[in-house]
Amino acid sequence: MDSLIQKAADLIKNGGIIAFPTETVYGLGADALDPEAVAKIFKAKGRPSDNPLIVHIAEIKDLEKLAQDIPEEAYILAKGFWPGPLTLVLKRQNIVPDITTSGLDTVAIRLPDHEIARSLIRQSGKYLAAPSANKSGRPSPTDAATVRKDFTEEEVPLIIDGGPTQVGLESTVLDLSVRPFTLLRSGGVSQKQIEYCLSDHSSLAHCKIRTSNPASDSDLTKTTSAPKSPGMKYKHYSPQAKLILCHKPEQIHSLIKKLRTQNLELKTKIGILCCKENHDKYPEANLVIAVGSISNLEEIASNIFRTLREFDSAGVDLIISESFPTEGIGLAIMDRLTKAASKLI
Ligand code: TXA
Ligand code: MG
Repeated sequence: MDSLIQKAADLIKNGGIIAFPTETVYGLGADALDPEAVAKIFKAKGRPSDNPLIVHIAEIKDLEKLAQDIPEEAYILAKGFWPGPLTLVLKRQNIVPDITTSGLDTVAIRLPDHEIARSLIRQSGKYLAAPSANKSGRPSPTDAATVRKDFTEEEVPLIIDGGPTQVGLESTVLDLSVRPFTLLRSGGVSQKQIEYCLSDHSSLAHCKIRTSNPASDSDLTKTTSAPKSPGMKYKHYSPQAKLILCHKPEQIHSLIKKLRTQNLELKTKIGILCCKENHDKYPEANLVIAVGSISNLEEIASNIFRTLREFDSAGVDLIISESFPTEGIGLAIMDRLTKAASKLI
């Protein structure tokens, strides 16, 4: 493993891109301060240039190299959650190139909780710009084999295989450059955990966080004219199959029945994404995949992206997904399903 990390570090030093594991999902990394290297990430992913990248660091002290006007709360949250799945948006230093931040005057920074990721950052001596290692719009990869399915060896010459990722969903993105602080993406750290961490400090006891993308937002096509987190306006996390997110499980049976009568030859291959407890409740579907126990949302989070891709591998045309509780990491699960879905019922 050490020699592989060294090889990856050398590629990064030479302006290349490589894929590596983090605790959330696999990332596609390049030197964040080298515009040409960062351009390779945008090209390989097919990512719109107005969707900025997260810069990954290995030491808290490096915050100051990349950001300025850093509020006290940034250090409190860094001490509370780093290394870990929290990304902080701060006013950027000029050394961060425009391409990395898509021209914004802020930069998103995170210190990942994965030994391989941190060793890579240290051995390359660089800060790593790293989006999730998937083609733009596809579900994020939680293992090395999935990364390879999205990218040829020419596009990404080296993938460090660190096994399946632990969290399975991307980091929480919190904007500290505005007041009130704004949650731009739900993820591995919940809003409650963030508020609790800040409330421990008496001067910040009443610190409240605003949410900008509640998972309950049912209008999938709605976009704001100037989104705070540019990535939020794009369709995301989508399997090739059409996904319908069902808020009431009892509606799933009538939906399947309706689809079957509309499609008399039973051509449409229907898959159900559900909790373990309901696995045997959908005998009329072609494929049922249980994503985890309803009493263990962490398990569901860690399996959700892999499961979406499994339906594609099985040639399913339509996925009908159950809904999950929106407490804790459940909010991030529902956010990803809502963004992947073409319809909510
Ligand atoms: O867990 C993660 O965060 C993974 C791993 C690899 O670290 N990375 C990841 O990156 O999910 P990506 O590029 O797939 O998502 C980054 C999100 C996007 O929604 C982007 O718009 C937002 O962070 N973002 C990046 N820089 C920003 C900034 N300066 N202001 C607001 N949002 C920003
Ligand atoms: Mg992504």
